[in-house]
Amino acid sequence: MKHIFTKDLPRYQDQEVELRGWVQNLRSSGKIWFLELRDGAGYAQVIVDEALIDDKSYQIAQKLTLESSVIIIGVVDKHPKKEEYELKAKLINLVSRAEDYPIGKKEHGPDFLLDNRHLWLRSRRQWAIQRVRNTIINAIYSHLNQQGFVKIDAPILTPTSCEGTTTLFSIDYFGEPAYLTQSGQLYIEAAIFSHGRVFDFGPVFRAEKSKTRRHLTEFWMMDAEAAFVEHEENLKIQENLITAVVKTVLENNKNELNILERDTTILQRVTPPFYRLTHKEAITKLHERGSDIKDMDDLGADDETLLTELYDKPIFVEKYPAEVKAFYMKRDPADPIRVLNADLLAPEGYGEIIGGSQREDDYNTLLERMKKEKLNIADFQWYLDLRKYGSVPHSGFGVGLERLVAWVCGLKHVRESIPFPRLINRLRP
Ligand code: 4AD
Ligand code: MG
Repeated sequence: MKHIFTKDLPRYQDQEVELRGWVQNLRSSGKIWFLELRDGAGYAQVIVDEALIDDKSYQIAQKLTLESSVIIIGVVDKHPKKEEYELKAKLINLVSRAEDYPIGKKEHGPDFLLDNRHLWLRSRRQWAIQRVRNTIINAIYSHLNQQGFVKIDAPILTPTSCEGTTTLFSIDYFGEPAYLTQSGQLYIEAAIFSHGRVFDFGPVFRAEKSKTRRHLTEFWMMDAEAAFVEHEENLKIQENLITAVVKTVLENNKNELNILERDTTILQRVTPPFYRLTHKEAITKLHERGSDIKDMDDLGADDETLLTELYDKPIFVEKYPAEVKAFYMKRDPADPIRVLNADLLAPEGYGEIIGGSQREDDYNTLLERMKKEKLNIADFQWYLDLRKYGSVPHSGFGVGLERLVAWVCGLKHVRESIPFPRLINRLRP
C-alpha cells in the first residue's frame, strides 16, 4: 500500500492509500467515528464507519485513545462542500496505545505545559510555531547566501565576553575560567577580512536574571558582519533581510499563521523603508507617553513596548549614548557621545529583535575604549589585531531568532518559540 502524507491527500482522490501518525482527536456519532490524525506533515480527518471497515479494525477504533499511534489504510474522499480531503478507513493497525495522555482539551497552566514540553510540542499551536521557525531559519540562510554572505561558525566556548560581563555563564575549562558565548560577533569580524560578508547562526547564552516575556538564557542568534559597510547600509541590509523573511513566511505558512490566529495585516505591511527614530527622539516620544526614562538611559523592555505600540511597521532606534552600549561600537563623528548603532524594534509592542552597529575600526580609539571598560587587553589582542592589519569600516548586527519568531507568530512569550526553553527558573525537561 502506498504510504502518503496528509498534505498530499488532494492528489489521491478516490484512491486507496496508507497514512501513519497519531490520534490527535476523537469523537463518535452513533456508529461513525471521526478521528483526527496528525502525521507530522499536517492533519487529516479519518472517518471510521462500521459499514465500511472490517470488525477487527472497528474494535480497534473503539478503543483508541488520544496520542495512540496508528497506521490506517483507506480511500481518499473530498469533503462534499469544502476544499478538504478525508480518509474513509478500511483498515486500522494500532502501533502503540497511549495511556492517559496528560495534556487534554481543558486549559492547562503554563507551568504544567512547560513541565510537559516534550509532549506539548505535539499540540497544534506548537506544531505551527516550530514550522514557522523552520521557515524563518531557512529564509535567513537563503537570503544571506543570495546576498553573498558566507556562513562562518563562531565558537561557543570563549575566554572573554562579547556583551558585558554581567550575563556570562562561566565554566571550568580544564582549570581555566571560560564562558559560554553571548554572541559570535567578535569572531565573525575576523572572518570578514577573509570573506567580506559573513554570518553565523547558533545558540548563545545569557545569564539573564530577567523574568520577562522576551528573555531566555539560551537562545539562537544570527550575527551578520560586512566589510566596507557603514551605518546607513547596515540598516538597509537588515531591512531587506527582515522583509524577505516575513514574505517567505506569508507565502509558505498560511495554514500555520491561521492556526495561530495571527492577524497578518501588519506582516503584509513589512516593506522597506522601516521607520527610523534617533534615541533622542525616542526618549521624547516616551516622555509624551508618560515614561520617566532619563535622557541618556538605554531603552528597557517596558519602554520598547510603550514605543512600538505606536507603530505598524518595524522601527529602527539609532544612535544610543555610547555609555549604555557595547565597547566595540563606533562613535558618531557628528555627536561623539553617541554611537552609530541601531536596535530594530518589532511593532505591536514586541520590541527589540535586532541589535547592530558600525564597529570601531581605529586601533587606538578601540584600545582606549577597552581600557575604560577594564577589559583584559591580552585576551582581546587578537581582536585589536584586526584593526592593525588592513582595518576597514565595517558593520554588523545580531538577530534574536526567538524574538523574531515570537513576533511573526504573534506569541505572548518567547518561551513558546524555542523547542525546549531555558529560563532563569527552568532547565527541564
Ligand atoms: O542586542 P544584542 O545583545 O547584540 C549582540 O549580541 C551583538 N553582538 C549582535 C551583533 O551585533 N552581531 O543581541 C542581539 C539580539 C537582540 O536584539 C535580541 O533579539 C536577542 O539577540 N536577544 C535575546 N533573545 C532572547 N533572550 C535574551 N536574553 C536575549 N538577549 C538578546
Ligand atoms: Mg541589544
